[in-house]
Amino acid sequence: MPDAVLYGTPAPGLVDAPPGALQVSPLVPGAGDLAELPDASVEEAMVLAPPGTLERDYVLAQALRVLKPGGRLLAFGPKDKGGSRLKKALEAFGCQVAEDARKHHRFCQAVKPAQPTGLADAIAAGAPRIVPSLGLWSQPGVFSWDRIDPGSAHLLAALPPLAGKGADLGCGVGILAARVLASPAVMALVCTDIDRRAVACAEHNLDDPRVTVRQADVRRLDGPTGLDFVVMNPPFHDGGQEDRDLGVAFVRTAARLLKKGGSCWLVANRHLPYEAALAEAFAKVDVKSETGGYKIVEARK
Ligand SMILES: C[S@@+](CC[C@H](N)C(=O)[O-])C[C@H]1O[C@@H](n2cnc3c(N)ncnc32)[C@H](O)[C@@H]1O
Repeated sequence: MPDAVLYGTPAPGLVDAPPGALQVSPLVPGAGDLAELPDASVEEAMVLAPPGTLERDYVLAQALRVLKPGGRLLAFGPKDKGGSRLKKALEAFGCQVAEDARKHHRFCQAVKPAQPTGLADAIAAGAPRIVPSLGLWSQPGVFSWDRIDPGSAHLLAALPPLAGKGADLGCGVGILAARVLASPAVMALVCTDIDRRAVACAEHNLDDPRVTVRQADVRRLDGPTGLDFVVMNPPFHDGGQEDRDLGVAFVRTAARLLKKGGSCWLVANRHLPYEAALAEAFAKVDVKSETGGYKIVEARK
């Protein structure tokens, strides 16, 4: 059992992570899972708190659950992304909190109270569940967890039935993949996402022998290659910051995985400049539609 856990990837110099701390962020491939650690098993927890309320309270409650009585919690976050609400959130669990501020972050230190309050409720509210409006498994914290993203909806409206072997890069809970699999001509589909929670939900949602779901960073994906098609709604945020290079890396990976003549179907916000990367990696680029602030592209290798 680890003595200490670290949730998230703080910027260098922000905090001193306890030596040997087990990383437990769902966004780090290979990390541990807080939900699987036993109650009262850890001395120290350090949490870079996620901004969403349900997700944040779930993580803080899990961290308090796994701490031994008297164990130390440091929770912190950018003050404009939920950091200034952390103290209140911890007080609601019965913690006495010492708060300080530096480098645009709030830092909240607490000791696990003898009798924390509300942990089970927060854990239930942030747990995976079937979202009735989607008819799919999802969890607070995964991308667009309780509704179809408008960009994905535009891509779904434009996507023709596909055939052969393909990949869904950044699959989330599997909204695009579920549509792709409706075509009986699809023989195999590899779905990849960096978020362990999304991958776990996608595994429930895409219960189909043609599907493989895996947690991986698309920037470092080396296979499968020779594919007939790729579908994707590439991310353009990393660690809460806009990161256009991330979408460009998705474009390059898609081209690498496709066979010559294979198609990449993607949706992007109109302001995102993927044209140069698409032109460089693909033989033919067709903008199929540009409506509602989104562009739908079919790029052929
Ligand atoms: C815009 S969302 C699309 C999700 C899903 N395809 C949909 O349409 O609802 C982008 C997805 O990419 C994932 N992602 C972000 N960075 C990634 C990376 N480096 N490697 C793999 N997946 C990543 C996110 O977790 C998120 O689920």
